[in-house]
Amino acid sequence: MLKFLIVDDDEILRFSLRKILESRSYLVDEAQDGVEALSKVDTCIYDGIFLDVNMPNMGGLETLSRIKEKNSSTFCVMLTAYSNVEDALEAMKMGAYDYLEKPVTSQKLFSLIDDALSTTSMVKMAGYCAPKTELDFGGGRSMVGESEGIKRVFDLVYKLALVDSSVLIMGESGTGKELVARALHFSSARKRQPFVVVNCGAIPENLVESELFGHERGAFTGADKKKIGKFQYANGGTLFLDEIGDMPLLAQVKLLRVLQEGRFTPVGSNQEVSVDVRIIAATNKHLVKLVSQGLFRADLFYRLNVFPIILPPLRERVKDIKSLCHYLIDKFNMKEKHTKQPGGLTTGRIQDIDYLALKALESYSWPGNIRELENVVEHAFVLETGSQISLKSLPEHIRENFEKVVSEKNIQTLENIKDSSDKAYDTKSGIFTSFMDDGGGLDFISMKEQFEKSFLIEALRRYKGRINQIALSTNITKMTLLRKLDKYGLDPKEFYD
Ligand SMILES: Nc1ncnc2c1ncn2[C@@H]1O[C@H](COP(=O)(O)OP(=O)(O)OP(=O)(O)O)[C@@H](O)[C@H]1O
Ligand SMILES: [Mg+2]
Repeated sequence: MLKFLIVDDDEILRFSLRKILESRSYLVDEAQDGVEALSKVDTCIYDGIFLDVNMPNMGGLETLSRIKEKNSSTFCVMLTAYSNVEDALEAMKMGAYDYLEKPVTSQKLFSLIDDALSTTSMVKMAGYCAPKTELDFGGGRSMVGESEGIKRVFDLVYKLALVDSSVLIMGESGTGKELVARALHFSSARKRQPFVVVNCGAIPENLVESELFGHERGAFTGADKKKIGKFQYANGGTLFLDEIGDMPLLAQVKLLRVLQEGRFTPVGSNQEVSVDVRIIAATNKHLVKLVSQGLFRADLFYRLNVFPIILPPLRERVKDIKSLCHYLIDKFNMKEKHTKQPGGLTTGRIQDIDYLALKALESYSWPGNIRELENVVEHAFVLETGSQISLKSLPEHIRENFEKVVSEKNIQTLENIKDSSDKAYDTKSGIFTSFMDDGGGLDFISMKEQFEKSFLIEALRRYKGRINQIALSTNITKMTLLRKLDKYGLDPKEFYD
């Protein structure tokens, strides 16, 4: 069941919106200003938030920016008077899905919700359809990727979010195992219940049992107070057992029992405790090997391995590097915006990654996988002075690797394409002939920009300036679309009916 939050200082408006939403049996919560809204967002996950633009204490734009800071995929719609449409458009640049002019009728409201349900992030959050290249979920994160490997993972996550079985996630360090576990939990019916993480490798062996199952006072030396275990904290929700390969054998026996019977006994207690917890486990170890060495129980392995999810290493899904870079650029821009100018509305300092830098990243082997890529993009944010991440802002070892992979001659050719200054560029194939300027030069960047601008004007005309529709039909994310419209000085309002 979808759950919405209405944030408006006007009690009558909140009441009428509540009635409309409840007529479809949606769950509704209210907040009278941004401050109250933020405290609600901290404790509850909403499928959608309706935000008034003008409110005392904290206005709608600031509230939106704080909500997006917590979870960039939250579905937010601005409520606005006619005179505030400008603000609403700004809000869309900040990631609001759309705006509704007051008075809000049930027809306007439902057509917006239905539109969102059939197309965007709300669909994904509600688990209505299979994902394409992005998986949005609560908990402040989303996963991106276009390779067949990651699309298979997204697909599995959607399927497994609908059931309650245990899942075993396997993959090298930094491939996104914890992210997948969160995606599973926050796309499932348990999403409003706790998601509890236990790093089995980080707990001293003699404390693992008490950490997981709790203990009675005096159960062992040092147990001066009764302690509730992680299983009980996670009751109703999901327990994520990270680094399960490091779990001591004794705790494995107890874990197997909880998986089979849903019951366990806290250390030093005579009383059994029943819990309703979904188990998601992850490991970067070769569990089959551990089983054969007697370090991991075979029965537990089979119990967990009913639904394995294997995350391929980044070097096997090179196709994801571009979309991950764009995602990370947006993420770091958002971070910069919030630290440097809270609530600021400017588009990011760095907007893209250039051709050569992307090729360098694609030719690297990524032993630390996506975590390493994150560090590289963050590094580039510090060093890059232009608007695109370029070779010179990448770490030395990645540049050196690129130089080795591509021969000097090829790098030269690539650079010539990028700088569009290679008059002697070999066009034997004839492919680029139509793009040559009068002097025989090949200006790729300006051709690309001309094409982008005409394409956007055509799209604005065709869809009468409606951003959501354009984003949907052109496969450009809304964020990129707004950024590009800004870049070319195009105003969607000029194309309205
Ligand atoms: N597909 C993805 N899209 C966006 N971000 C991703 C993706 N996969 C991983 N990340 C990011 O990469 C980082 C590492 O992911 P995560 O912590 O889930 O990896 P892990 O497999 O659990 O690593 P470890 O084995 O070291 O614990 C995180 O910051 C995560 O947000
Ligand atoms: Mg992890």
